[in-house]
Amino acid sequence: MSLSIIILAAGKGKRMLSDLPKVFHNVGNYPMLYHVLDTSMKLKPKNLCVVISDQIKPYTDEIKRKYKKVTFSNQKLQKGTADAVLCGLTNQSSLKSDSTLILNADTPLIEEKTLKKFIQKFKKEKTILSILSMEPKNSDNSYGKLVVEGENLKKIIEKNELSQSERNLTLCNSGVMLVKTKHLYNKIKNIKNRNSKNEFYLTDIVEIINSDNLKVTHMKVDFNETLGVNDKQDLAYVEKIFQEKIRLSMLIKGISMIDPKTVYFSADTIIGKNVTIQPNVFFGPQVQIGNNVLIKSNCHIEESRISNYVTVGPFARLRNGSDIDEKTKIGNFVEVKKSRIKKNVKISHLSYVGDANIGNDVNIGAGSITCNYDGFKKNKTFIGSGCFIGSNTSLIAPIKIKKNSIVGAGTVVDKNVKESTLVYRKSELVKKNKKK
Ligand code: UD1
Ligand code: CA
Repeated sequence: MSLSIIILAAGKGKRMLSDLPKVFHNVGNYPMLYHVLDTSMKLKPKNLCVVISDQIKPYTDEIKRKYKKVTFSNQKLQKGTADAVLCGLTNQSSLKSDSTLILNADTPLIEEKTLKKFIQKFKKEKTILSILSMEPKNSDNSYGKLVVEGENLKKIIEKNELSQSERNLTLCNSGVMLVKTKHLYNKIKNIKNRNSKNEFYLTDIVEIINSDNLKVTHMKVDFNETLGVNDKQDLAYVEKIFQEKIRLSMLIKGISMIDPKTVYFSADTIIGKNVTIQPNVFFGPQVQIGNNVLIKSNCHIEESRISNYVTVGPFARLRNGSDIDEKTKIGNFVEVKKSRIKKNVKISHLSYVGDANIGNDVNIGAGSITCNYDGFKKNKTFIGSGCFIGSNTSLIAPIKIKKNSIVGAGTVVDKNVKESTLVYRKSELVKKNKKK
């Protein structure tokens, strides 16, 4: 069975009250649309089409760079989900596939294994149209409600169109639909916008296909997987569920956490073996951690690479471009940015290291600062291997301190230092008797 996927991403997202397109809001520091695209790619579809609006056009190059296979269909006016799917179908290659899977870009937690099971069942039972159904805990929700007879799906009624008695229906539409492409294409044009929103509801196709006595079904799945995001409350809830899931998967992979609910991961966080994470740690995007690493409590880490046997924290901040080699120790109240720090380095307390390159076996004393910014541009600091930088030093960049040198405590260094050199500033300690 050849499969096309159409991802609906053109909606106005009005309820988000934001200038950022809805589908670019993050869950686990990763856009919702990318969650859905990643899952879609795993299904190896023949075609993958994202229906976008003008609002998303500025992002298409970025999407294309990440997902080469994707094509776009532009929905000029947001006239509803049926109109959006019709836009997706104008893409000729979509029409060549046997079946079409329709996904909403605002439903980011749907899992590959669920979709695979759904596709298998659809194929096996020779179904014409099927949807993933679910049962929210709260019956007063914004999802379309289902009228079913066992596994057969009769009708989907959108929230605004519900009659009083239909309000009691509990089974809902996840927005995931799988349908024979031929039937989808032939019937979608029959959908009318005679409803309270004057929108073309994709969900109306259920009744239309049923009227031909064809097989229309639903498959019930876990509600948490199908959570849709329409507003910021939904987004916060989806984030909560996402964090619960990723924490569990990290624990299953053997990562130790004393209090998992206080540790926040990004969708792309990569962590090796035998890693321990103490409470209150936040992993921003693009963090890679090796094996046997200890992250002590209260750290904020983003866009960083941490090698094996490194210790970080407590209270450390690793910003973008922190690249830390084996056995190095980053201690409390240390901030690192755009710096390569090689093996067995100790930066144990209260330091700022920015735009620096630090060699093996260097010790940076408490309170030392790389003064990387001169008010106009960022400058680089180079510290060769085996150097000892005393406490409370200011290294005025651009600067090179070559290997095996020593900088005395409290020194402001504004000139390069040759190999194996001791530098310090000589200012006498003045002693006087106190006058009574
Ligand atoms: C939709 C379903 C509802 C289901 C719910 C699941 C319809 C009519 N309703 O409702 O049955 O329970 O999803 O989350 O399908 N979009 C476009 N173009 C448009 C309109 C929407 O691309 O003109 C896209 C949106 O970006 C979004 C998706 O389609 O990704 C769904 O649209 P949305 O307005 O969020 O529909 P819901 O009201 O959530
Ligand atoms: Ca929605």
